Amino acid sequence: MIPSLATIADLRQWRARQAGTVGFVPTMGALHEGHASLVRRSAAKNAATLVSIFVNPTQFGPNEDLDKYPRTLEADLRLCEQAGATAVFTPDNAMMYPPGFATWVTVEGMTDKLCGKSRPGHFRGVTTVVAKLFNLAQPTRAYFGQKDAQQALVLTRMAIELDMPLEVITCPTVREADGLAMSSRNRYLAAPDRQRALALFGALQAVQAAFKAGQRDVPMLRQAGLAILTPSVDRVDYLEILNAHDLGEITTVQGKALCAVAAFVGTTRLIDNVILGG
Ligand code: PAF
Repeated sequence: MIPSLATIADLRQWRARQAGTVGFVPTMGALHEGHASLVRRSAAKNAATLVSIFVNPTQFGPNEDLDKYPRTLEADLRLCEQAGATAVFTPDNAMMYPPGFATWVTVEGMTDKLCGKSRPGHFRGVTTVVAKLFNLAQPTRAYFGQKDAQQALVLTRMAIELDMPLEVITCPTVREADGLAMSSRNRYLAAPDRQRALALFGALQAVQAAFKAGQRDVPMLRQAGLAILTPSVDRVDYLEILNAHDLGEITTVQGKALCAVAAFVGTTRLIDNVILGG
């Protein structure tokens, strides 16, 4: 069985023994094929691959799903091993956030958009925990999924602006056969909701089709997506088209644009995105 490093001391000892490159895949567990694809990419490129499994409390808001977030450690360890990971770091809350913890890492501006608007404090939790994990794991490369596009942009920027000596690599979204983006939260969806959740990718495809047909006007493109999304989900959080590099507002798609969507199906909040142009 793959070594499970439960403490910071275990992780530091493991890291000190690594002679070659270390790829790192930070996760909150409840792993699926999307995570497996990140581990495989890392294993193909690095001498060792570390996965962290930590349900980070500081990135959940007071009314979010921290308590019910799926915890499936045994299956996760199996998936990591099969995908080629070398070790798994499984710290607990007290280790990551000892009593009196008061140091936060924030990326300003970009984190006020999209998910940052509806989940205040979320990105502060993400950047803080990932900065800590980077310091502990000292990876050569770290791998994140494009499904969390805003998170990938924010973490790339954090690593660059804080001069962290590693490469942040964003990997393509992995989808189910019917197009639903893989997510740990998909397991909350009962069959009828699972069907309705397809409207997220359906909306993105409608935007892509309008874009391919020559539409460049952002309000018109949004309208094409919302026409599919709104009738199927319980609440649209956002469907936005922004500059894909810095999440700046645009009215016309000229270079590369990110079309990102978040919506509630029942009580489950799902996100997805595609890149337009570029
Ligand atoms: O994407 C996730 O699973 C989490 O946001 C991350 C990057 C592991 C930080 O807790």
